[in-house]
Amino acid sequence: MKTAVSLFSGCGGSDAGVLAAGFNVLLANDILPFAKDVYEANHPSTDYILGSVEKIVNFPKANLLVGCYPCQGFSQGGVRDPSRKINTLYLEFARALKAINPRAFIVENVSGMVRANFSHLLTDQLKVFTEAGYKVKYQVLNAADYGVAQERKRIFLVGIRNDFSEEYQFPYPTHGENKLLPRVTIKEALKHMRHWPDGEFYEREFHWYYLSRNRRRDWHEVSKTIVANPRHMPLHPISPKLYKVEHNVWKFESDGPARRFSYREAAVLQGFPKDLKFPDTAAGSLDMRYKVAGNAVPPPLFEAVTKAIPQSIWE
Ligand SMILES: C[S@@+](CC[C@H](N)C(=O)[O-])C[C@H]1O[C@@H](n2cnc3c(N)ncnc32)[C@H](O)[C@@H]1O
Repeated sequence: MKTAVSLFSGCGGSDAGVLAAGFNVLLANDILPFAKDVYEANHPSTDYILGSVEKIVNFPKANLLVGCYPCQGFSQGGVRDPSRKINTLYLEFARALKAINPRAFIVENVSGMVRANFSHLLTDQLKVFTEAGYKVKYQVLNAADYGVAQERKRIFLVGIRNDFSEEYQFPYPTHGENKLLPRVTIKEALKHMRHWPDGEFYEREFHWYYLSRNRRRDWHEVSKTIVANPRHMPLHPISPKLYKVEHNVWKFESDGPARRFSYREAAVLQGFPKDLKFPDTAAGSLDMRYKVAGNAVPPPLFEAVTKAIPQSIWE
């Protein structure tokens, strides 16, 4: 069977895609205790090391290495300081790459990396991975184009080891206008889910910053980007519509009850199955549930990127 090692694995979004593409994930790692709890509840056979990747000394040999190092440095929501230490975690990924020497690797990160003031970070990563012996390609993909009911643009870097002549080609969009299938709507994704799942959604007020833009999409649309911070989670379409009062000021059209997506809905809009297990462990606060769901890479998107690696390199 094809084997993979996963770093910055979170609760297992990327890895669910890798598993669906037919790999056995030998090792996963993350620093966040509740990410491990959720991962293990859903994929008990993977060896999951809790702690900083910097502490891992030995990596098992594997055909594929995947990793989605954190993005605080350049995400839209995070503090955009190009020099923050967190931006050097890709060097840890490169350390694993050199030790494992897999046939291919996949990295996912926020699309902000292609912006001019952060492009040096992308250039550095391309340089380090190329010097490690890989032909690297990168592209920004939108999860909504691959059957996920959410606008989510992320950059993917895929490397194929130099001793293979094969070239990587990013998968073509399968969902959307003039594509094989229509986009998956919020309505379709959330069908059969309760409209008011008490205790599973964040109930704090909608502060001025929240209402500085339109946070709502309708049932027949794809969702806005699911984020890790529940305060900024988009509105469930059961909420009244918002209208613009002036620049940066939006208001609800009526007084009807409004709410953000629940953490479980957030996970489903990320492409996880509805029965994803969120265990009741000590680390599993409501905020943490939102955080691991919002941090994840949509499994169907990661599956599509993984399956697009030419099959012949695994033979
Ligand atoms: C974008 S998320 C990864 C999401 C994951 N791939 C998924 O699909 O669910 C980045 C992850 O890196 C983890 N992380 C941050 N610093 C780390 C470190 N030093 N060692 C290991 N993991 C770290 C965070 O806890 C977070 O879960």
